[in-house]
Amino acid sequence: MGKILDIKNKALENNVPIMQDEGINFICDYIKNNNVHKVLEIGSAVGYSAINFASVDDSVEVTTIERDINRYNEAVKNINDVGLNERITIINGDALETNIDGKYDLIFIDAAKSQYIKFFNKYKENLNSDGVIISDNLSFHGIVDDISLTHNRNTRQLVGKIKKYIDFLENNDEFDTTFYKLGDGVSVSKFKK
Ligand SMILES: C[S@@+](CC[C@H](N)C(=O)[O-])C[C@H]1O[C@@H](n2cnc3c(N)ncnc32)[C@H](O)[C@@H]1O
Repeated sequence: MGKILDIKNKALENNVPIMQDEGINFICDYIKNNNVHKVLEIGSAVGYSAINFASVDDSVEVTTIERDINRYNEAVKNINDVGLNERITIINGDALETNIDGKYDLIFIDAAKSQYIKFFNKYKENLNSDGVIISDNLSFHGIVDDISLTHNRNTRQLVGKIKKYIDFLENNDEFDTTFYKLGDGVSVSKFKK
């Protein structure tokens, strides 16, 4: 556990955006309580969340994709340091150009916010019929609910894209989505019955 805390602290010191504790705990509990064995993550950063997910139980296998070579290299090192290289497969590449085989019980989208709809539509093909797609950062530090919190043009554009994603989930023919106001805003989507 000490090693995971070191990875977290180093990420925070270097401004690497990692999941907040509440969001991590929510997904780890979901893995524990719902018989999740196979996890696919879009956006590894330095491997912090993947390491947390794989630490829930020895039966959990994680595949995770990161496009930034420096973060990928650090993630590989971190995964080796905690001895999880047999259960975490990390791929260096753009998730929109990577093809993944097989089906997953849980797909976690935590990469470029502007591309969430594309990630969702691409990777739903890899979801088990009773699996879930979880997305993070849907409140974007509270700015999605209160746009006056920022005057930055790029941030406003990004928030517009997140709102479009929320709208896409709310009006989706194939999936039912529940939104949770924890961490930085999390959604859980399941195939409609
Ligand atoms: C919020 S961080 C991931 C944090 C990580 N899940 C955690 O909590 O430890 C998002 C990461 O996604 C990566 N990313 C963004 N767009 C991507 C893409 N299209 N394909 C792969 N990785 C991407 C970024 O380089 C960044 O490191």
